[in-house]
Amino acid sequence: MSEQKIIDGKAFAEKLRGKIAAQVATLKSKNGFTPGLAVVLVGEDPASKVYVRNKGEQTKASGMNSFEHKLDASTSQETLLKLIDQLNRDPQVNGILVQLPLPKQIDAQAVINAIDPDKDVDGFHVVNAGRLATGGQGLVPCTPYGCLLLLKDRLGDLAGKHAVVIGRSNIVGKPMAQLLLNESCTVTIAHSKTKDLPAEVRRADIVIAAVGRPEMVKGDWLKDGAVVIDVGINRIEKDGKGKLVGDCDFQSCLPKASAITPVPGGVGPMTIAMLLHSTLVAACRQHG
Ligand code: GUN
Repeated sequence: MSEQKIIDGKAFAEKLRGKIAAQVATLKSKNGFTPGLAVVLVGEDPASKVYVRNKGEQTKASGMNSFEHKLDASTSQETLLKLIDQLNRDPQVNGILVQLPLPKQIDAQAVINAIDPDKDVDGFHVVNAGRLATGGQGLVPCTPYGCLLLLKDRLGDLAGKHAVVIGRSNIVGKPMAQLLLNESCTVTIAHSKTKDLPAEVRRADIVIAAVGRPEMVKGDWLKDGAVVIDVGINRIEKDGKGKLVGDCDFQSCLPKASAITPVPGGVGPMTIAMLLHSTLVAACRQHG
């Protein structure tokens, strides 16, 4: 029974990538173009290097072109902005992603806002944040978009559900709340200054945890039958070994939840699948 409770994000993402690859193949044969994604990495952050490598591999596996730009950690903002300008003008490049975090001499928001909003496959540009907030057609941040697909797959119509989003980052919490509002959920955004977090969570039909605090959400905070989406990826030491855990205490949440994403294998695999989806959408819009 608990097998069915556990949302298999890895399998869902694989299916999605299969559909994207089929659409890419059709675009190539019928429309004569290949979508392209440019990924920019500045510096040597080990986690970022792994993400960028995985993004490149999965982009190529889907049949799209992958353009990787690796810049030195000492790169100036001016140099990076020149590269962005070049990618904005390149018709082969339909999507641009600048891996975060950036070195401290670079203003990340200035760089993001220099990307053509219609190539901003991260959905972080202020224009895309505005489009999401006002119901316009833009590009949506990949992780919250992936969470939304998992939720709709489990619950169908989300209208009237009470969703509690824990975390208010520009990358996950805020766009997640907007997406849920667009689905007619009643949305609460909780954060580090929230007075009684367990009481807020107890009201939720849907809990999205995106705070980066290992195993913070406990099972006895949950309403019976809540759906739990755990965005956290935290590396902890347990029994002398490194282990990945989410923001939810999986063992205590599992019996109370009607469905829950595991870490790893839940939300994580959805992010790159949604990146490929956004690149495909951007490419189709650019080709009219
Ligand atoms: N660093 C961590 N997550 C992300 C993401 O979703 N996009 C980018 N560009 N950088 C990240």
